[in-house]
Amino acid sequence: MKKLASLLSSKNKFLILGCGFSGSFFAKTIRKLGCTALTSSRSNNKDPNNFVFDSEKGIVPNKEIFDGVTHILSCIPPDKKGNDPVLGSLKNNLKSLALEWVGYLSTTGVYGNTKGDWVSEIDTPKPIQTRSHKRLNCEKEWIESGLPVQIFRLPGIYGPGRSTFEAIKNQKIRIISKKDQVFSRIHVADITNAIIYLLQNKDSLNFHQIINIADDEPCSQIEVIEYCYDLLGLKMPKPILFEEAKKQLSPIAQSFWMENRRVSNKLLCESLGYELIYKNYKQGLKNCFLNN
Ligand SMILES: NC(=O)c1ccc[n+]([C@@H]2O[C@H](COP(=O)([O-])OP(=O)(O)OC[C@H]3O[C@@H](n4cnc5c(N)ncnc54)[C@H](OP(=O)(O)O)[C@@H]3O)[C@@H](O)[C@H]2O)c1
Repeated sequence: MKKLASLLSSKNKFLILGCGFSGSFFAKTIRKLGCTALTSSRSNNKDPNNFVFDSEKGIVPNKEIFDGVTHILSCIPPDKKGNDPVLGSLKNNLKSLALEWVGYLSTTGVYGNTKGDWVSEIDTPKPIQTRSHKRLNCEKEWIESGLPVQIFRLPGIYGPGRSTFEAIKNQKIRIISKKDQVFSRIHVADITNAIIYLLQNKDSLNFHQIINIADDEPCSQIEVIEYCYDLLGLKMPKPILFEEAKKQLSPIAQSFWMENRRVSNKLLCESLGYELIYKNYKQGLKNCFLNN
């Protein structure tokens, strides 16, 4: 990160639209590198660097917020109708700016079900879920916007404050076993650092409009849960078979188990040379454990 600090500077002004889990981590990190970063949320908070943006209520930022903006990162999912909240409300504002770069956080759900096979950016997305069709449409709209956009497809995001540890503590954990089922995941710090790495090396790396950010080791949910119980010094309760458990799952929870894929990070980590901070769930969860 030392190399990065000397390259990004106060000349860069970032707008981070949607200051939730990933957006707030990105904002915090980019500020440490000397950049200005303003963030949005749907309600007022006390943070002087935060402004209100709520597409559903028609609340848009004042013009001054956009003054001197060089970079945008959108961390906002499609709205209930499937429209992109940022493009729906702010496209013209964004197009009037001299933007160097726009990042859009998307999901690997657009790939659909590969029955456990690896999937990469060159594979044609085959979304199954309605929400993933909507997401793919939003990706297309970003690409067609003419803005200098780069799309990051993300699997399950976790990090300190949002991981299996919270589910165990809140007694919301479901230990489900489904043969051959794997999930990919990514630590929130790697989303931020990978994006900053790409920005820093923009001039020397080939530009790719769509990039997966995932760790090296997709694996079953049980392996992850068992590892958390081990770190907590507790014994993991007996898993329930998926066929039994699914009766109690919400439709959205069930839908996650209907897709089985391994998300490749070869473009990011081999071709573009990004080195993951947390290469697998063990390294990432240890960080969560120590920071909880
Ligand atoms: N969570 C995952 O495991 C996962 C996996 C893959 C991809 N993704 C996608 O990656 C992106 C970032 O994920 P995240 O988990 O960091 O997000 P998050 O914590 O849920 O934050 C989402 C942000 O979007 C804002 N927002 C939502 N609807 C909005 C609207 N209509 N108008 C204005 N702002 C709106 C929220 O505002 P408030 O702060 O006011 O709530 C929040 O700041 C999202 O697009 C998400 O769908 C997430």
